[in-house]
Amino acid sequence: MKRQHRSKKYKEQALLYNLEPKSPLVESYRNMRANLNFLSPDRELKKISFTSSEIGDGKTITLCNLAIIMARNEQQVLIIDADLRRPKIHKYLNITNHQGLTDVLTDRVTLEEAIREGAQECLKILPSGTLPPNPAELLASRRMSELLDEAGEKAEIVLIDAPIVTISDAAILGNKADGVIFVVQSHDSKEEQVLEAQERLERANANILGTVLNLHPISKDGKYYNYYYPEY
Ligand SMILES: Nc1ncnc2c1ncn2[C@@H]1O[C@H](COP(=O)(O)OP(=O)(O)O)[C@@H](O)[C@H]1O
Ligand SMILES: [Mg+2]
Repeated sequence: MKRQHRSKKYKEQALLYNLEPKSPLVESYRNMRANLNFLSPDRELKKISFTSSEIGDGKTITLCNLAIIMARNEQQVLIIDADLRRPKIHKYLNITNHQGLTDVLTDRVTLEEAIREGAQECLKILPSGTLPPNPAELLASRRMSELLDEAGEKAEIVLIDAPIVTISDAAILGNKADGVIFVVQSHDSKEEQVLEAQERLERANANILGTVLNLHPISKDGKYYNYYYPEY
């Protein structure tokens, strides 16, 4: 099935809210969460950014599902939508986007005021806010580093949605985060593209935690044909 043909219902299905805790999809995200604890033994992992080579690789969905699993586990999670090119977090998590990250960065509102409650008790969300003409500059600012530190005091873990890696924002965010998760779409991603992306992140001094292989169908005839499994 081509991604652009997926229905809205399909998109909703891709979020974990409605799945049984024992479903294999939930289990695969639970493994991802557990693995994160082992990936950076020398550095505290508080702020994690997500990027990929191409639009539609599944960065936002992977981040949201990981956040849902963490919040279910009673970890205090804060999602920040720092994809100031194609912000989608508010759509996936069904909140408004009238105040968010950019409004805090330009001192129109405080972080406290801009953070929204998610559907789960432990989940908080900072949507992108008004889209600025100069995203890279805003994200590279000292104010952004301060905001991330402040966010880290408000939650146990901060998950940051970034644009694709060829846009400098992704490297800027990777540099400011404690670690980066790289999402790879198993059908489409080309090896050289992935290697180039990783070089870009390394040049920005980002700490690459690992790769999530997304859209990996586990069984064509199986019961869960419509679901795709992220592999870590
Ligand atoms: N594992 C998955 N299972 C089901 N749908 C997925 C999965 N990963 C991505 N999708 C769908 O593919 C589309 C693009 O995903 P998205 O997370 O928005 O990509 P990105 O943030 O990398 O641009 C969305 O419609 C999303 O629901
Ligand atoms: Mg996205």
